[in-house]
Formats: sequence, C-alpha cells, structure tokens
Amino acid sequence: MDRIRIRGGNRLVGTIPVSGAKNAALPIMAASLLTSEPVRLENVPRLADIESMLALIGELGATIRRAGSPGEPELEIGVPRVTATEAPYDIVRKMRASVLVLGPLVGRCGRARVSLPGGCAIGTRPIDLHLAGLRRMGANIDLSGGYVEAALPRGGRLHGARHVFPIPSVGATENLMMAAVLARGESELVNAAREPEIVDLADCLVAMGAQIEGAGTDVIHISGRETLGGATHRITADRIEAGTYAIAACITGGELELTGIRPGLLERVFDTLSAAGARIDAAADRVRVTAPDGGLRAVDVVTEPYPGFPTDLQAQLMACMTIADGSSLITETIFENRFMHVSELVRMGADITVRDGSARVNGIHGLAGAPVMATDLRASVSLVLAGLAANGETTINRIYHLDRGYERLVGKLVACGAVIERETDADSVQVA
Ligand code: EPZ
Repeated sequence: MDRIRIRGGNRLVGTIPVSGAKNAALPIMAASLLTSEPVRLENVPRLADIESMLALIGELGATIRRAGSPGEPELEIGVPRVTATEAPYDIVRKMRASVLVLGPLVGRCGRARVSLPGGCAIGTRPIDLHLAGLRRMGANIDLSGGYVEAALPRGGRLHGARHVFPIPSVGATENLMMAAVLARGESELVNAAREPEIVDLADCLVAMGAQIEGAGTDVIHISGRETLGGATHRITADRIEAGTYAIAACITGGELELTGIRPGLLERVFDTLSAAGARIDAAADRVRVTAPDGGLRAVDVVTEPYPGFPTDLQAQLMACMTIADGSSLITETIFENRFMHVSELVRMGADITVRDGSARVNGIHGLAGAPVMATDLRASVSLVLAGLAANGETTINRIYHLDRGYERLVGKLVACGAVIERETDADSVQVA
C-alpha cells in the first residue's frame, strides 16, 4: 500500500500547470458511446478514474487509441458498434461515475443494465434523479438484484420531455443531456446543474452534431438528432485541482502561479480566499495566489451548487482555516457525510467541532505532523495540505484515493519547494 511522507513548514513558491478536469473527462468519455465515429480528446488527465472509465467503455465496444506522438490527441475513442450494454458491479462500485454510461446506452441502444453504485465515504449517493428523468423520456426502469434495468420497447427510442429536477444534480443533468441528444423530439431540463463540466460536455456533444442550448444555466434545451458524428475536443481545465493548489499557497504562506485555468471558473473560491487575506492576481488563462504576510483571517463558508462555493473544495479550505486567525463556520449542504477529514485534522492538533452539518473551526497557531488516514479523494488532499503546513512529519496512508483525482501531485508540489515523497511498502522495507 503506497503512502505519502511530508515534512512540513516550507512555503510553496512557483508555477503549477493545471491538468484537464476529471469531472469533465469522465462524462465526455461516456458520451463517446453515442456515436459510431471516432471522438478525439485532448488535455485528458492521467488519473486512475480515467483508466477505470476507459476499461468500462472498452467492455461496451469502444476501441481506444492513445497518442503515439506529442501534438496528437491523447485519446481516440471509437465505438463503431456497442457490443454490450451492461456496467457490472465490480466496475461501478470502484467508480460511481460509471453510471454516466446509462444515458448514452439507453440513448443509442434503447437498453442498459447498470449496477447501482451504492454509497461511498461522503454519502449514500442515490441515482433516483437520473432514473426519474429517463422514465419521463419513455424508458421502463426496473431495479433488481442491485442493478438498474432500463429498456424501451424493441427498436424503440427515447422521446424528448420536459423534466424538472427537484434539486440540481451534476450527474443526473449529464446523464439526461446525453440521453436527450438522440431522443425523438425536444427536451427541456429545468433546475439543471450549472457546473462548468456540464458546459464542457455540452460543447463536446455540440461538436458531435447535437443541438443543445442553455448549458451552464438552469434550463437546458435539447433537440434530439437521429445520429451524432465524431469530434475533436479539448477537456476544460480542472477548477478543483486549481482551487486545491490556490489553497495550498495560502496554507503554506506561499505564492503560486496556476497556469492553464480561466480564473472565472473559481470566482467564489477566490472571493473567499481574498476575504481571508490572500492576494489574487488574475489573467485570462492563469492566476497568481499570494498568501498574506501576517497569516490568514478566518472566514465562514457554505458549500452550494455552482456558482457557489464547491463542495469539492470544502475539505481543503477547512485545512486552511485550522491555522487561520479567528473562528470559522464551514457548512456542507451538498453531501451528508463530507466531514471525514475532521477527525484526522484533529489528530494533527486542529480545534474543530461538528454539529448539524456544520464544522466550527477555531484557528490554532500551528498543526503538528502525524500519521493520518485518507478516506476519500478530497479529504485525502486536505491532509496533504495540512501536512505541508504542519510542524514535523506527516504520513498519509491509503493514498490510492489521491491517484483518482490529482495528476502528478507529488511532482507538482516538489517543483514548488515541498518536501514530499511517495513510498511503497517495498520502499519502507528498504528503509528499514
Ligand atoms: C458530481 O457528483 C461530482 N462527480 C462530485 O465530485 C461533486 O462533488 C458533485 O458532482 C457535486 O458537485 C463527478 O462529476 C464525477 P450530484 P454527483 O448528483 O453527480 C444528491 C469529486 O470529488 N442526489 O450533483 O454524484 C446527492 O446525494 C466528486 O470529484 C440525489 O439525491 O453529484 C447529493 O447530495 C465527489 N439523487 C446531491 O444530490 C440523485 O439521483 C448532489 O449530487 C443524484 C444526486
């Protein structure tokens, strides 16, 4: 089992290139099932979740070609024929985003059998909103044996529909958008999620010939087409990765230039860091984040759907607030159990109490390094940030979570002055 070892105390100073967005690449790879022509993707991050999605669509009939030389699209995905319409439990349980093949399979083939993803560390993560929308578009949905069976009468096609979401859901919006692009007639998704990754998916679908208007707003109009074609698409930058490193600059008292990101995607995050005393210098495709000399001020945060403060940066901001001046209240409104990082931060000396979905964080002078355990992707990286700022050494176990969402994390941090290394059990045996 790999682990990360950090010796804290160094300011992070330097430049970090932002990778392509995991949460845009995953639905876009699923969307390649909608056409028999090749979809070529650029700026695809090298992550475990990307490999999992490639493995899944490969089981469904996709052929995958990786770039042979620089300058070529990293990935070319071709699905001339869908050869299977089942997403098995052993794949879906490892990566919930596998449910994003549901919409494309029903849209293109009229049927799908997808394992229910089950819960994860941050919550029960149901998919009832996905299924309600597919029903409204004409699919028969049965739940049996832990699987969703979606089917249309033989040879049938989904029909367009007006669907109002009770709450914004990123995945449900993406699944229904992908189902609607091949449905017969018009669809309207109301109270749709507005995340930039949904806009990126829509941009790729439009490049494939889909007719979509309103992506990024809460009402998306889609006119179904008979077929879609191939396309070449560049995955948008990962705003959550960028936000993570912006917070890393703040917690270490450093100064980082983040390149390849449109700062507008992180407006609420940068407003929050500015309120805490950081300096934000934004340009068209980069942003410089400079920590204040005298340390950060405590700020309150409530996570919300985009364009609110992202739930995927809540753990990272909390790590930062543990050593801020004052007391902050961090309220998580999206997931019911996204405070798994609290107990580990407390083991590093943080003063945090959780009550009714909110965490009260009283700033202390400094964290103390300790052995800690990662539980989910964003909790893991919040412990890395805490370790970078802590006095002494921090070791983080179960770092496979990090490999799911952060490309070259150690390398990017070492290049900016962090004392951080990854070791495998074999390494530690050598050391012993
Ligand atoms: C996406 O998950 C992201 N994952 C998550 O990022 C992110 O935290 C989340 O959106 C919110 O922004 C990917 O894009 C692959 P939701 P998703 O549907 O689509 C409830 C990360 O760290 N809900 O917007 O699963 C749900 O339980 C991951 O990169 C239902 O009740 O999130 C949650 O409380 C973690 N029924 C809320 O809606 C449903 O059918 C928002 O979930 C669907 C969702």
